[in-house]
Amino acid sequence: MTKPTRSMRAVLQFAALATALLCGTALPPAADAETGAEDWLRYSPLDPQAAKSYQRLPEAVVLGDSLVLKTAQQELVRGVGRMLGKTLRAGVDSPSENAIVLGTLTELHKLAPALHPPQELRADGYWLKIAKINGSECLVVTAATDRGVLYGVFALLSKIARAESLAAIDEVQQPYAPIRWVNQWDNLDGRIERGYGGPSIFFTDGKVRSDLTRAGQYARLLASIGINGCTVNNVNAAPGVLEDSFIAQVSRIAEVFRPWGIQLSISVDLSSPKVIGGLETFDPLDPRVTEWWRKKVDEIYRQIPDFGGFVVKADSEGRLGPSTYGRTPADAANVIARALKPHGGVVFYRAFVYNHHLDWRDLKNDRARAAYDNFHPLDGAFDDNVIIQIKNGPIDFQVREPVSPLFAGLQRTNQAIELQITQEYTGQQRHLCFLVPMWKQALDFDMHIDGNAAPVQDLVTGHVLHRPTGGLVGVANVGMDANWLGSPLAMANLYGFGRLAWDPNLSADKIVDEWTRLTFGSDPLVVKTITRMQLSSWQVYESYTGPLGAGTLTNILGNHYDPGPESSEENGWGQWHRADHMGIGMDRTVATGTGFVGQYPPEVQPLYESLAHCPDNLLLFFHHVPYTYVLHSGKTVIQHIYDSHYDGADRAGDFVSQWKAIDGRIGAERYRDILERLQYQAGEAVVWRDTICNWIYRLSGIADDKGRVAPPALRR
Ligand code: GCU
Repeated sequence: MTKPTRSMRAVLQFAALATALLCGTALPPAADAETGAEDWLRYSPLDPQAAKSYQRLPEAVVLGDSLVLKTAQQELVRGVGRMLGKTLRAGVDSPSENAIVLGTLTELHKLAPALHPPQELRADGYWLKIAKINGSECLVVTAATDRGVLYGVFALLSKIARAESLAAIDEVQQPYAPIRWVNQWDNLDGRIERGYGGPSIFFTDGKVRSDLTRAGQYARLLASIGINGCTVNNVNAAPGVLEDSFIAQVSRIAEVFRPWGIQLSISVDLSSPKVIGGLETFDPLDPRVTEWWRKKVDEIYRQIPDFGGFVVKADSEGRLGPSTYGRTPADAANVIARALKPHGGVVFYRAFVYNHHLDWRDLKNDRARAAYDNFHPLDGAFDDNVIIQIKNGPIDFQVREPVSPLFAGLQRTNQAIELQITQEYTGQQRHLCFLVPMWKQALDFDMHIDGNAAPVQDLVTGHVLHRPTGGLVGVANVGMDANWLGSPLAMANLYGFGRLAWDPNLSADKIVDEWTRLTFGSDPLVVKTITRMQLSSWQVYESYTGPLGAGTLTNILGNHYDPGPESSEENGWGQWHRADHMGIGMDRTVATGTGFVGQYPPEVQPLYESLAHCPDNLLLFFHHVPYTYVLHSGKTVIQHIYDSHYDGADRAGDFVSQWKAIDGRIGAERYRDILERLQYQAGEAVVWRDTICNWIYRLSGIADDKGRVAPPALRR
């Protein structure tokens, strides 16, 4: 990484200030402050050698003058200025010499009618191409929509930041999914449910913040990775969010999203017609309720014309829902969807509907069954602007779960996969846990519908079953902390989510390599160290918190962070592991268990139903086995649990020494911050190791072969 000289810094700071004024968006601190605020958009100056190849970028021509196109132009000027120290002449409307030309295809064709992309550009897809226009050599960034042009600009800047050649560029990129949204679980009082990066960037003290600078910067980050929608409030929604006076406040958030092509949506409480509407009912089939939603939605669109829609959590964890009136989720979703339909809005109805007062003494009860049991019978009953939002696993963002069988259980209904970027059960940003490899496993999993390949990524994006919409939703929960998620390395998860939503076929290696180069520069040792740590981190975390598919053995009644295996049992929440003196694991088989395995398509069931085929890493999710059961690996279950915890804690300790190898190669501020986090994690991993190993030893009475776990008196 080249350190800017003092004079360069002054120029850059001046350029940054000028750009901020131009954009109306104040910039986060300059790149050399390195708090992580700009993360992958830091646009650090390129070293002169690399910068040379971009010498031929003299001016920017913008065709059209929409808000989003202006943003695209300003971002280009900002990025090129910072990385190449070059001030683009912007606002020219016809290239007189070599230039970067930005515009939609329609505008471009007025200038260059013969220029056509090699394939049809779908909404938001873009084309980067070196082409001759009026005799000048131009770099064209074009798309079917303004937003696509903005995405093209970000892609171009990312290539420059990673010193990729543009010499013969001719590249089309199309988003895999129409829905690429994030959810924020922000409460109106400013706290964020399961947020670990400080208070809300949107709300404080029951109101929308007066200063929404950070919200605008967040929109920029999201747009840069192709995200096109953001739900700003908690799924456990306060009904007050739908008060007219509050909508007027929320419209200010939509204003700072708009230049970046981000659609705003809100989570709503289904009882709103009663609680704030003054009706005596919220029965979705009552005509007064229908009318209430219609008027409310019309009012929202009057204030926010590009409003995206609603997210609904109902009949779940104490939220009221249609079951109050004996109605179904389809009844509830459709009444709202019909109000949104004329405006082009959608309803995300969450499949996270389950009874948290299950009788734990009944071995046939199983929370994992709930989403499928509730929604599969309604397949085909939802309107075409309803999307069922399904968590990747059937329980709740555990460190390892199989995919939800509901992805195959909805074949005539739109769906989206809900992934959790905020690390609720995976270390809360205090432990390193890069989640892209986990998400990739879920997206790649083949459901084999009717004998045909049906990977989850093609089910949720509607490719297999030809649905009109669908995609990926990530629960992000960034906050006011300078580096958004509270931990600089955790930002790879936000970046990775966006990249996968754009293209789920990207590999985890490619994504983390890109993110590392953009965020920390391209020093080979830095890239090697950070990518290696990130790519191993999920396995490491799993090995000391919940191996063999037992779930994250955390305190489920409290913070979802500390080890607390006993808290899972003897309550109705259903995150059971069924560990007793003889064995461990949930029997979810059809033959002897809860029957959950029977919710998968027939081709998938044999993988989990039989002990012979069940992969070791999900064994305890699907089977209850004695501690002495021998795994495919040849180890007994109990010895695997001991070894895995010791190995995981050792590897967490190794992260510290790996990190120290790059001291001096990245900015001191981020180096120290991350070092402290890794040192803390190393200690916590030992606490996890000892708590779980001692607990399982006390339960099983079986000593560790290597003599590490049993009390001293029993050690060999
Ligand atoms: C988890 C999480 C809750 C959240 C819920 C949901 O249970 O702990 O805080 O409200 O998921 O996804 O609705």
